[in-house]
Amino acid sequence: MAFKELVKNRRSCRVFMDTPVTGEQIEAIVTAGQWAPSPLNQQPFQFIAVTDPKLRAGIQKAGMAAKQAVADQGGPGWAQKYPMEFVGTCPLILVVVSDPSLGGLGSYFNQPHGALQSASACIQNMMLMAAELGLGSLWFTFFDPDDVKPVLSIPKELEIAGAVLVGTPAAETKGPSRKPPQVHENLFHQ
Ligand SMILES: Cc1cc2nc3c(=O)[nH]c(=O)nc-3n(C[C@H](O)[C@H](O)[C@H](O)COP(=O)(O)O)c2cc1C
Repeated sequence: MAFKELVKNRRSCRVFMDTPVTGEQIEAIVTAGQWAPSPLNQQPFQFIAVTDPKLRAGIQKAGMAAKQAVADQGGPGWAQKYPMEFVGTCPLILVVVSDPSLGGLGSYFNQPHGALQSASACIQNMMLMAAELGLGSLWFTFFDPDDVKPVLSIPKELEIAGAVLVGTPAAETKGPSRKPPQVHENLFHQ
């Protein structure tokens, strides 16, 4: 697909078929992620390909707990309608873990998020590749990372940049449009 179309065709998918994602597809997606830019090319991210239904259910459970936390703290009511079930049934969850100690020199000059920024670029590459392969994807973060880390044996000192749900879309993926870009000439204008 031409890049201009691909960027717009990648839409968040929240309904998946149970068709497994192939090893070749996983390889293509994580390779696209690995080619993301990173400070000092430290490539501070690793991937966990979660296909085990018990582990996917563990991530879903963390999502349910986060939903409850939103309710308990008086968060927006619409969050209670979030259909967390698809998290457990999506055939593949690619969890992207970043190492904050590999964020380049930024911590010396008040830019300490290099690793997470890079992992975010990695996730975008992954989602674009998934779209190129005709797969749906979702950058999922509706969970407390401290609930997900033990499920997947992720060391405490690493960060979860996102859980990327991947699979064949079960319906056409439509999503919200975008505002026109707000571009300031030379100086930021209020
Ligand atoms: C950092 C980040 C976290 C997100 N977390 C969630 C999430 O937990 N659940 C969800 O359904 N969508 C999540 N999204 C997807 C956004 O809702 C979605 O990208 C946005 O509404 C625009 O829609 P589109 O992706 O279809 O263009 C997340 C996106 C980003 C970038």
